[in-house]
Amino acid sequence: KMEEKQILLDMHKEAAKYFYANLRSLRGQQASEYLNKRKLSKNTQKLFGIGYSNMDFGDLYQYLLYKGYEEEHISKSGLVIPKKKGKGYVDRFRNRIMFPIFDVHNQVIGFGGRVLDDSLPKYMNSPDTPLFDKSKNLYGLNYARTSGKNQILIVEGYMDVISLYQAGFENVVASLGTAFTYQQASLLKRYTGEVVIIYDSDTAGTNAALRAIPILSSAGLKIKVVQVPGEKDPDDFIKQNGPEAFQQLLDHAMGAVTFQVSVLRKKYNIEDTEQKIKFTMEVAQLLSRLDNEIERDVYLQEISNDTKISTQSILNEIKKTQEFQR
Ligand code: UTP
Ligand code: MN
Ligand code: MN
Ligand code: MN
Ligand code: MN
Repeated sequence: KMEEKQILLDMHKEAAKYFYANLRSLRGQQASEYLNKRKLSKNTQKLFGIGYSNMDFGDLYQYLLYKGYEEEHISKSGLVIPKKKGKGYVDRFRNRIMFPIFDVHNQVIGFGGRVLDDSLPKYMNSPDTPLFDKSKNLYGLNYARTSGKNQILIVEGYMDVISLYQAGFENVVASLGTAFTYQQASLLKRYTGEVVIIYDSDTAGTNAALRAIPILSSAGLKIKVVQVPGEKDPDDFIKQNGPEAFQQLLDHAMGAVTFQVSVLRKKYNIEDTEQKIKFTMEVAQLLSRLDNEIERDVYLQEISNDTKISTQSILNEIKKTQEFQR
Protein backbone atom coordinates (compact mmCIF):
# COMPACT_ATOMS: atom_id res chain seq x y z
CA LYS A 1 0.00 0.00 0.00
CA MET A 2 3.06 2.26 0.23
CA GLU A 3 3.03 2.30 -3.54
CA GLU A 4 -0.59 3.39 -3.68
CA LYS A 5 0.09 6.25 -1.30
CA GLN A 6 2.98 7.44 -3.46
CA ILE A 7 0.80 7.34 -6.56
CA LEU A 8 -1.88 9.39 -4.79
CA LEU A 9 0.72 11.92 -3.63
CA ASP A 10 2.01 12.31 -7.17
CA MET A 11 -1.54 12.67 -8.44
CA HIS A 12 -2.37 15.39 -5.90
CA LYS A 13 0.75 17.29 -6.86
CA GLU A 14 -0.27 17.00 -10.52
CA ALA A 15 -3.80 18.20 -9.70
CA ALA A 16 -2.47 21.15 -7.69
CA LYS A 17 -0.27 22.19 -10.62
CA TYR A 18 -3.25 21.83 -12.94
CA PHE A 19 -5.48 24.07 -10.80
CA TYR A 20 -2.63 26.52 -10.31
CA ALA A 21 -1.98 26.95 -14.05
CA ASN A 22 -5.71 27.11 -14.67
CA LEU A 23 -6.11 30.11 -12.35
CA ARG A 24 -3.48 31.90 -14.41
CA SER A 25 -5.11 31.09 -17.74
CA LEU A 26 -7.96 32.84 -19.52
CA ARG A 27 -10.50 30.54 -17.89
CA GLY A 28 -9.30 31.58 -14.44
CA GLN A 29 -9.84 35.28 -14.96
CA GLN A 30 -12.94 35.62 -12.81
CA ALA A 31 -11.39 33.57 -10.04
CA SER A 32 -8.28 35.69 -10.23
CA GLU A 33 -10.35 38.84 -9.89
CA TYR A 34 -12.10 37.33 -6.89
CA LEU A 35 -8.75 36.74 -5.16
CA ASN A 36 -7.64 40.29 -5.93
CA LYS A 37 -10.88 41.56 -4.46
CA ARG A 38 -10.06 39.62 -1.30
CA LYS A 39 -6.66 41.31 -1.24
CA LEU A 40 -4.48 38.23 -1.66
CA SER A 41 -1.24 39.28 -3.32
CA LYS A 42 0.21 37.26 -6.20
CA ASN A 43 3.02 36.20 -3.92
CA THR A 44 0.60 34.93 -1.25
CA GLN A 45 -1.40 33.07 -3.90
CA LYS A 46 1.80 31.41 -5.02
CA LEU A 47 2.96 30.52 -1.49
CA PHE A 48 -0.32 28.76 -0.76
CA GLY A 49 -0.50 27.25 -4.24
CA ILE A 50 -3.99 28.62 -4.80
CA GLY A 51 -5.71 27.50 -8.01
CA TYR A 52 -9.01 27.26 -9.82
CA SER A 53 -11.15 24.31 -10.93
CA ASN A 54 -13.08 24.64 -14.18
CA MET A 55 -16.78 24.88 -14.82
CA ASP A 56 -16.69 21.70 -16.96
CA PHE A 57 -17.55 18.25 -15.66
CA GLY A 58 -14.48 16.17 -16.25
CA ASP A 59 -11.50 18.36 -17.08
CA LEU A 60 -9.29 17.18 -14.24
CA TYR A 61 -10.44 13.57 -14.63
CA GLN A 62 -9.51 13.56 -18.31
CA TYR A 63 -6.20 15.24 -17.54
CA LEU A 64 -5.29 12.64 -14.92
CA LEU A 65 -6.16 9.81 -17.33
CA TYR A 66 -4.02 11.51 -19.98
CA LYS A 67 -1.18 11.69 -17.43
CA GLY A 68 -1.38 7.91 -17.17
CA TYR A 69 -3.12 7.41 -13.82
CA GLU A 70 -5.36 4.37 -13.54
CA GLU A 71 -9.05 4.82 -12.93
CA GLU A 72 -8.80 2.78 -9.74
CA HIS A 73 -6.31 5.22 -8.25
CA ILE A 74 -8.11 8.30 -9.51
CA SER A 75 -11.32 7.15 -7.87
CA LYS A 76 -9.53 6.67 -4.54
CA SER A 77 -8.10 10.17 -4.62
CA GLY A 78 -11.41 11.83 -3.84
CA LEU A 79 -10.78 14.26 -6.70
CA VAL A 80 -13.63 12.70 -8.69
CA ILE A 81 -17.03 11.26 -7.89
CA PRO A 82 -18.83 8.46 -9.75
CA LYS A 83 -21.37 9.62 -12.31
CA LYS A 84 -24.94 9.38 -11.05
CA LYS A 85 -25.93 7.60 -14.26
CA GLY A 86 -23.73 5.28 -16.27
CA LYS A 87 -20.04 4.54 -15.93
CA GLY A 88 -17.16 6.88 -15.32
CA TYR A 89 -16.47 9.84 -13.09
CA VAL A 90 -16.91 13.59 -12.88
CA ASP A 91 -14.70 16.11 -11.11
CA ARG A 92 -15.59 16.71 -7.47
CA PHE A 93 -14.48 20.35 -7.57
CA ARG A 94 -15.98 22.55 -10.25
CA ASN A 95 -15.79 26.32 -10.65
CA ARG A 96 -14.12 26.78 -7.28
CA ILE A 97 -11.08 28.56 -5.90
CA MET A 98 -8.80 25.67 -4.95
CA PHE A 99 -6.76 25.61 -1.75
CA PRO A 100 -4.28 22.71 -1.63
CA ILE A 101 -3.97 21.21 1.84
CA PHE A 102 -0.36 20.40 2.69
CA ASP A 103 0.96 18.03 5.31
CA VAL A 104 3.95 18.99 7.47
CA HIS A 105 6.31 17.75 4.75
CA ASN A 106 4.78 20.19 2.25
CA GLN A 107 3.07 17.43 0.29
CA VAL A 108 -0.42 18.05 -1.09
CA ILE A 109 -2.80 15.58 0.57
CA GLY A 110 -6.18 17.15 -0.20
CA PHE A 111 -8.04 20.26 -1.30
CA GLY A 112 -10.57 22.77 -0.14
CA GLY A 113 -12.63 24.56 -2.77
CA ARG A 114 -14.58 27.81 -2.40
CA VAL A 115 -17.37 29.08 -4.63
CA LEU A 116 -16.90 32.50 -6.24
CA ASP A 117 -20.23 33.84 -5.00
CA ASP A 118 -22.74 33.24 -2.21
CA SER A 119 -23.93 29.83 -3.39
CA LEU A 120 -23.89 26.79 -1.16
CA PRO A 121 -22.05 24.81 -0.01
CA LYS A 122 -19.53 27.64 0.35
CA TYR A 123 -16.62 25.26 0.83
CA MET A 124 -16.10 21.70 -0.29
CA ASN A 125 -13.24 19.64 1.05
CA SER A 126 -11.59 16.39 -0.01
CA PRO A 127 -13.20 13.39 1.65
CA ASP A 128 -11.13 11.06 3.82
CA THR A 129 -8.78 9.13 1.53
CA PRO A 130 -5.70 6.94 2.06
CA LEU A 131 -3.75 10.26 2.08
CA PHE A 132 -6.08 12.56 3.90
CA ASP A 133 -7.81 12.37 7.27
CA LYS A 134 -9.12 15.78 8.16
CA SER A 135 -9.24 14.93 11.84
CA LYS A 136 -5.45 14.44 11.84
CA ASN A 137 -4.27 17.46 9.86
CA LEU A 138 -4.18 21.21 10.27
CA TYR A 139 -4.22 23.67 7.42
CA GLY A 140 -1.15 25.91 7.52
CA LEU A 141 0.91 23.77 9.88
CA ASN A 142 3.59 23.29 7.21
CA TYR A 143 4.36 27.01 7.57
CA ALA A 144 3.40 27.58 11.21
CA ARG A 145 5.77 24.92 12.51
CA THR A 146 8.82 26.73 11.18
CA SER A 147 7.64 30.26 11.95
CA GLY A 148 9.94 30.51 14.95
CA LYS A 149 7.20 32.02 17.14
CA ASN A 150 6.51 30.74 20.64
CA GLN A 151 2.80 30.17 20.08
CA ILE A 152 0.49 28.96 17.32
CA LEU A 153 -2.76 30.73 16.45
CA ILE A 154 -5.80 28.55 15.72
CA VAL A 155 -8.43 30.00 13.40
CA GLU A 156 -11.48 28.55 11.64
CA GLY A 157 -10.86 28.91 7.96
CA TYR A 158 -8.56 28.83 4.96
CA MET A 159 -8.95 32.55 4.33
CA ASP A 160 -8.13 33.39 7.95
CA VAL A 161 -4.85 31.44 7.74
CA ILE A 162 -3.82 32.99 4.43
CA SER A 163 -4.82 36.51 5.35
CA LEU A 164 -3.01 36.43 8.71
CA TYR A 165 0.05 34.88 7.09
CA GLN A 166 0.13 37.65 4.51
CA ALA A 167 -0.04 40.22 7.32
CA GLY A 168 3.05 38.71 8.98
CA PHE A 169 1.45 36.21 11.37
CA GLU A 170 2.98 33.06 9.93
CA ASN A 171 2.26 30.98 13.03
CA VAL A 172 -1.36 30.21 12.17
CA VAL A 173 -3.37 27.04 11.48
CA ALA A 174 -7.01 26.15 10.79
CA SER A 175 -8.82 23.01 11.85
CA LEU A 176 -10.45 22.42 8.42
CA GLY A 177 -14.02 23.09 9.39
CA THR A 178 -14.41 20.28 11.89
CA ALA A 179 -14.55 20.13 15.63
CA PHE A 180 -11.02 20.20 17.00
CA THR A 181 -9.76 16.67 17.63
CA TYR A 182 -7.33 15.22 20.15
CA GLN A 183 -5.07 14.08 17.28
CA GLN A 184 -4.85 17.65 16.02
CA ALA A 185 -4.05 18.88 19.52
CA SER A 186 -1.22 16.41 20.02
CA LEU A 187 0.09 17.21 16.54
CA LEU A 188 0.29 20.87 17.59
CA LYS A 189 1.99 19.92 20.84
CA ARG A 190 4.95 18.61 18.83
CA TYR A 191 5.66 22.13 17.62
CA THR A 192 4.52 24.48 20.36
CA GLY A 193 3.62 24.77 24.03
CA GLU A 194 1.04 27.52 23.65
CA VAL A 195 -1.94 28.11 21.39
CA VAL A 196 -4.27 31.06 20.90
CA ILE A 197 -7.81 30.25 19.80
CA ILE A 198 -9.16 32.99 17.49
CA TYR A 199 -12.45 31.70 16.13
CA ASP A 200 -15.19 33.70 14.45
CA SER A 201 -16.96 35.90 16.97
CA ASP A 202 -20.39 34.37 16.36
CA THR A 203 -22.25 31.80 18.46
CA ALA A 204 -20.87 28.91 16.40
CA GLY A 205 -17.31 30.16 16.88
CA THR A 206 -17.75 30.71 20.60
CA ASN A 207 -19.20 27.23 21.09
CA ALA A 208 -16.43 25.69 19.00
CA ALA A 209 -13.85 27.47 21.17
CA LEU A 210 -15.51 26.18 24.36
CA ARG A 211 -15.36 22.64 22.97
CA ALA A 212 -11.74 22.95 21.84
CA ILE A 213 -10.41 24.10 25.23
CA PRO A 214 -10.59 20.78 27.13
CA ILE A 215 -9.17 18.93 24.11
CA LEU A 216 -6.19 21.27 23.73
CA SER A 217 -5.70 21.26 27.46
CA SER A 218 -5.61 17.46 27.64
CA ALA A 219 -2.75 17.51 25.13
CA GLY A 220 -0.80 19.66 27.60
CA LEU A 221 -1.05 22.93 25.70
CA LYS A 222 -1.30 26.32 27.39
CA ILE A 223 -4.36 28.04 25.99
CA LYS A 224 -5.29 31.64 25.36
CA VAL A 225 -8.38 32.97 23.64
CA VAL A 226 -8.98 36.08 21.55
CA GLN A 227 -12.49 37.28 20.80
CA VAL A 228 -12.55 39.30 17.61
CA PRO A 229 -14.72 42.39 18.18
CA GLY A 230 -17.95 42.60 16.17
CA GLU A 231 -19.49 39.71 14.23
CA LYS A 232 -16.22 39.07 12.44
CA ASP A 233 -13.47 36.60 11.72
CA PRO A 234 -9.70 37.27 11.86
CA ASP A 235 -9.56 37.83 8.09
CA ASP A 236 -12.28 40.52 8.19
CA PHE A 237 -10.67 42.12 11.21
CA ILE A 238 -7.15 42.39 9.89
CA LYS A 239 -8.32 43.74 6.54
CA GLN A 240 -10.34 46.43 8.25
CA ASN A 241 -7.96 47.30 11.07
CA GLY A 242 -4.48 46.21 10.03
CA PRO A 243 -1.75 44.08 11.62
CA GLU A 244 -0.99 46.44 14.53
CA ALA A 245 -4.57 46.27 15.74
CA PHE A 246 -4.46 42.49 15.42
CA GLN A 247 -1.25 42.36 17.44
CA GLN A 248 -3.07 44.38 20.11
CA LEU A 249 -5.77 41.71 20.23
CA LEU A 250 -3.07 39.07 20.70
CA ASP A 251 -1.40 41.10 23.44
CA HIS A 252 -4.70 41.19 25.31
CA ALA A 253 -5.60 37.53 24.84
CA MET A 254 -7.57 36.01 27.72
CA GLY A 255 -6.67 32.93 29.68
CA ALA A 256 -8.93 29.96 28.92
CA VAL A 257 -10.73 30.18 32.27
CA THR A 258 -11.32 33.92 31.90
CA PHE A 259 -12.91 33.18 28.54
CA GLN A 260 -15.06 30.39 29.94
CA VAL A 261 -16.18 32.59 32.83
CA SER A 262 -16.94 35.49 30.46
CA VAL A 263 -19.17 33.24 28.34
CA LEU A 264 -21.04 32.13 31.47
CA ARG A 265 -21.28 35.72 32.55
CA LYS A 266 -23.13 36.57 29.33
CA LYS A 267 -25.37 33.53 29.66
CA TYR A 268 -26.66 34.47 33.11
CA ASN A 269 -28.12 37.68 34.49
CA ILE A 270 -26.56 37.92 37.93
CA GLU A 271 -29.01 40.61 39.02
CA ASP A 272 -31.47 37.74 39.29
CA THR A 273 -30.84 35.71 42.46
CA GLU A 274 -31.57 32.30 40.99
CA GLN A 275 -29.45 32.92 37.92
CA LYS A 276 -26.69 34.29 40.12
CA ILE A 277 -26.63 31.04 42.08
CA LYS A 278 -26.53 28.96 38.90
CA PHE A 279 -23.75 31.15 37.53
CA THR A 280 -21.69 30.77 40.67
CA MET A 281 -22.19 26.99 40.74
CA GLU A 282 -21.01 26.70 37.15
CA VAL A 283 -18.00 28.88 37.84
CA ALA A 284 -17.16 26.74 40.87
CA GLN A 285 -17.20 23.74 38.51
CA LEU A 286 -14.74 25.46 36.21
CA LEU A 287 -12.45 26.58 39.01
CA SER A 288 -12.42 23.12 40.56
CA ARG A 289 -10.47 21.95 37.52
CA LEU A 290 -7.71 24.55 38.01
CA ASP A 291 -4.59 23.00 39.51
CA ASN A 292 -2.94 26.32 40.19
CA GLU A 293 -4.27 27.60 43.53
CA ILE A 294 -3.02 31.13 43.03
CA GLU A 295 -4.76 31.39 39.68
CA ARG A 296 -7.88 29.94 41.24
CA ASP A 297 -7.77 32.50 44.04
CA VAL A 298 -7.60 35.39 41.57
CA TYR A 299 -10.81 34.20 39.89
CA LEU A 300 -12.39 33.48 43.24
CA GLN A 301 -11.87 37.10 44.33
CA GLU A 302 -13.27 38.43 41.05
CA ILE A 303 -16.39 36.29 41.12
CA SER A 304 -16.97 37.09 44.75
CA ASN A 305 -16.73 40.82 44.01
CA ASP A 306 -19.15 40.48 41.12
CA THR A 307 -21.74 38.35 42.86
CA LYS A 308 -21.26 39.46 46.47
CA ILE A 309 -21.14 35.80 47.40
CA SER A 310 -18.37 35.17 49.94
CA THR A 311 -15.16 33.57 48.70
CA GLN A 312 -15.57 31.02 51.49
CA SER A 313 -18.86 29.63 50.24
CA ILE A 314 -17.66 29.55 46.63
CA LEU A 315 -14.53 27.74 47.81
CA ASN A 316 -16.67 25.25 49.74
CA GLU A 317 -18.58 24.57 46.55
CA ILE A 318 -15.32 24.06 44.65
CA LYS A 319 -14.08 21.62 47.30
CA LYS A 320 -17.34 19.66 47.10
CA THR A 321 -17.02 19.39 43.34
CA GLN A 322 -13.41 18.26 43.64
CA GLU A 323 -14.31 15.52 46.14
CA PHE A 324 -17.03 14.37 43.80
CA GLN A 325 -14.56 14.24 40.90
CA ARG A 326 -12.19 12.05 42.89
P1 UTP B 1 -16.72 30.24 7.44
O1 UTP B 1 -18.13 30.10 7.02
O2 UTP B 1 -16.42 31.06 8.63
O3 UTP B 1 -16.01 30.75 6.16
O4 UTP B 1 -16.13 28.78 7.60
P2 UTP B 1 -14.72 31.66 5.97
O5 UTP B 1 -13.50 30.83 6.14
O6 UTP B 1 -14.82 32.89 6.77
O7 UTP B 1 -14.89 31.91 4.42
P3 UTP B 1 -14.88 33.20 3.57
O8 UTP B 1 -14.12 34.25 4.31
O9 UTP B 1 -16.31 33.56 3.34
O10 UTP B 1 -14.21 32.75 2.32
C1 UTP B 1 -14.90 28.52 8.24
C2 UTP B 1 -14.28 27.27 7.68
O11 UTP B 1 -15.18 26.17 7.82
C3 UTP B 1 -15.08 25.29 6.72
C4 UTP B 1 -13.96 25.84 5.85
O12 UTP B 1 -12.73 25.24 6.23
C5 UTP B 1 -13.99 27.31 6.20
O13 UTP B 1 -12.77 27.96 5.88
N1 UTP B 1 -16.33 25.22 5.95
C6 UTP B 1 -17.20 26.26 5.91
C7 UTP B 1 -16.60 24.07 5.21
O14 UTP B 1 -15.83 23.12 5.24
N2 UTP B 1 -17.74 24.04 4.45
C8 UTP B 1 -18.62 25.09 4.38
O15 UTP B 1 -19.62 25.00 3.65
C9 UTP B 1 -18.34 26.23 5.14
MN1 MN C 1 -11.58 11.00 10.27
MN1 MN D 1 -18.14 31.04 10.64
MN1 MN E 1 -14.11 34.82 6.36
MN1 MN F 1 -15.28 32.91 8.94
